[in-house]
Amino acid sequence: MKKHAVLVVGARPNFMKAAPLIHAMLRESAQFEITLIHTGQHYDYNLSQLFFEDLNIPKSDIYLGVGSGSHAEQTANVMVALEKELINLAPDVVIVFGDINSTLATAVVTAKLGIKLAHVEAGLRSFDNRMPEEINRIVTDRLADFHFVTEQAGVDNLVNEGIDKKHVIMVGNIMIDSLKQNLSKLSDSKVISDNSLIEKKYVAVTMHRPSNVDNKERLTKYLALLVELSKKIDVVFPCHPRTLKMIEKFELQSLIQSDSFHLIEPLGYIDFLALLAYSKFVITDSGGIQGDTTYLKIPCLTIRSNTEQPETISIGSNTLCGEDIGFLNEKIDEILNGNYKQSAVPKFWDGATAQRIVSYLEKNL
Ligand code: UD1
Repeated sequence: MKKHAVLVVGARPNFMKAAPLIHAMLRESAQFEITLIHTGQHYDYNLSQLFFEDLNIPKSDIYLGVGSGSHAEQTANVMVALEKELINLAPDVVIVFGDINSTLATAVVTAKLGIKLAHVEAGLRSFDNRMPEEINRIVTDRLADFHFVTEQAGVDNLVNEGIDKKHVIMVGNIMIDSLKQNLSKLSDSKVISDNSLIEKKYVAVTMHRPSNVDNKERLTKYLALLVELSKKIDVVFPCHPRTLKMIEKFELQSLIQSDSFHLIEPLGYIDFLALLAYSKFVITDSGGIQGDTTYLKIPCLTIRSNTEQPETISIGSNTLCGEDIGFLNEKIDEILNGNYKQSAVPKFWDGATAQRIVSYLEKNL
């Protein structure tokens, strides 16, 4: 008899992690029936529905519609709505992804109902509790029964926290499954021509982390750097709604008036990958983009003082630049002068992660 898996997703960084697993579990040969639940943490078309379309994710079976709110409100709203659904569905396993508030809320509800919990992208740690995602990761991993890990640091962190090694499974980075499956579509994207860009002659930027954008001084500092950089090379910044709201709140629109500084709407999955793949380099505070650029071997300067994915630095194309504008400028010069480090791709980032997870769950549920 097929096992029943509930997969819960909520926000943009979940969708490209869930898609390969959904597709693998829906294969005729797989021993699963699935229910897909979307919490509605992200609800804008281009942060949510567009990703379902780009990644061919079937419409969710259940939509909780929780929307925005404080961390407590958002987490609590997912918990209340999800509990009823899980009691009703009584699945064999619930699968969660990454580190967003919906992940945490689902983990708590699932564990209290005594349902098996699997965490995809387990064990990552920034060791910085000021990041809400770090708290979400720690609690989710403490409650999970199966920990699917992307890189060796994940195994080490979980074992150090007392998680039994036999429940820690190195499967690799599932985002790379999505990336590999969609690479052939990048040439169809119009993102380069629509924004009058030239391949390898622009920098792609994303910035949405509250620690960077909710602070006027810091946001002003970064925007000023980017405008200065745009005098040398085009800068393209698909802007998260939170960042846009802050630019307006702090009245920084006039600062970024420049023909070679392109502040654009958030992009879908294919257009965004194309923007990364054809860029000269990337400046970001995102987690996932550190992984994408490592796979694509595009230099990535991360404007954070820590990362939960150390192999993107030790093996990959990523450099942590903290808040040090001087260091960031040094790295930018290295890239523009062709002196930036050479990089490689970590083990198991090979496009077969979803299949490893399915095979494991088939044997162990
Ligand atoms: C969430 C994740 C973060 C991830 C990011 C990617 C948590 C704690 N954070 O942060 O890890 O990197 O998603 O985008 O779960 N908003 C909209 N439309 C939407 C969704 C949000 O306008 O569809 C605005 C709202 O004003 C909202 C704000 O963005 O208050 C923040 O959204 P929220 O989901 O709380 O967190 P993110 O910053 O998106």
